Amino acid sequence: MKNELNAIKEKALLALSECNDTETLESLRVTYLGKKGELTAVLKKMGGLSAEERPVIGQLANEIKGQLEARIEALKAEIGKKQMYARLEKEKIDITLDGDLKKLGKKHPLNTVLEDIENIFIGMGYKIASGPEVEYDYYNFEALNIPADHPARDTQDTFYINDKVLLRTQTSPVQVRVMENQKPPIRVIAPGRVYRSDEVDATHSPLFHQIEGLVVDKGITMSDLKGTLEVFIKRLYGEDSVVRFRPHHFPFTEPSAEVDVRCFSCGGKGCRLCKNEGWIEILGCGMVHPKVLEKCGIDPEVYSGFAFGLGLERIVMRRYNIDDMRLLYENDVRFLNQF
Ligand code: DAH
Repeated sequence: MKNELNAIKEKALLALSECNDTETLESLRVTYLGKKGELTAVLKKMGGLSAEERPVIGQLANEIKGQLEARIEALKAEIGKKQMYARLEKEKIDITLDGDLKKLGKKHPLNTVLEDIENIFIGMGYKIASGPEVEYDYYNFEALNIPADHPARDTQDTFYINDKVLLRTQTSPVQVRVMENQKPPIRVIAPGRVYRSDEVDATHSPLFHQIEGLVVDKGITMSDLKGTLEVFIKRLYGEDSVVRFRPHHFPFTEPSAEVDVRCFSCGGKGCRLCKNEGWIEILGCGMVHPKVLEKCGIDPEVYSGFAFGLGLERIVMRRYNIDDMRLLYENDVRFLNQF
């Protein structure tokens, strides 16, 4: 029996020496040490041994069992370690490789200039107001003193949703919405998108941006309008800018004016930028028409106000020397990265 035990031991150690994965190791453990294993089978026969032999064989069997168990444990640890190293090797990342650089976007030039303009007016105590782009005919035209048959409507043809609803052609309707909802003193600017059914070309787009301004209070006069807009234009174009007010007509202001700045390219001599005029038109403005105040529930005998409106695209194009408006909407990063 001693020989039988030693043979089992040799066979087991040999098998274990060739084993290098956990599954084989487990099956070897079952084969030799399991309940139905070879060593157990030998031990079961110990009943037939003599009283002298039994402790000797018992001790030997226990020794062998202990040795095999220790070997199996050691192997288990060794295989586990090898597997861990193999896994680490597989998961290794090369930190010297270039990263996947994400390109960061930039502020659109329209937004850069809009924020500059907003900040100038916020600095003068104005609030930012807004209104819907899908607007009622009433706010876009009627309430601004532009009745159904008024010729001003022809120059602002737009996209109609139905008889009463359209895409706003100007930010001026926000004036009406603000006056309906707010008691004077009012001091707001209202930037936003506007629409006209214009053909797309280098200087026209069916969608563009305007910035509206409105001030209503007691005792507001044309000199407040002139002073405010002069400060605005000097902040935008530099303190040495020269500003002029030219009489004009808008249905919702009386009197009305257009404001020009002396051409900053030629200084007034006349060049391509100012189309040889020496002046560049910046905005339209005027004293809010009493009829408009009345329509909004503000008593024109008590209050007066001024309003102005300017196109954002033209200011942006001049500032950055952009000669085609379409570039502003294409969102080509090669173009946008230049600003
Ligand atoms: N809404 C006018 C336009 O689109 C611009 C304008 C002119 C706005 C005079 C005003 C204003 O507030 O007083 O042509």
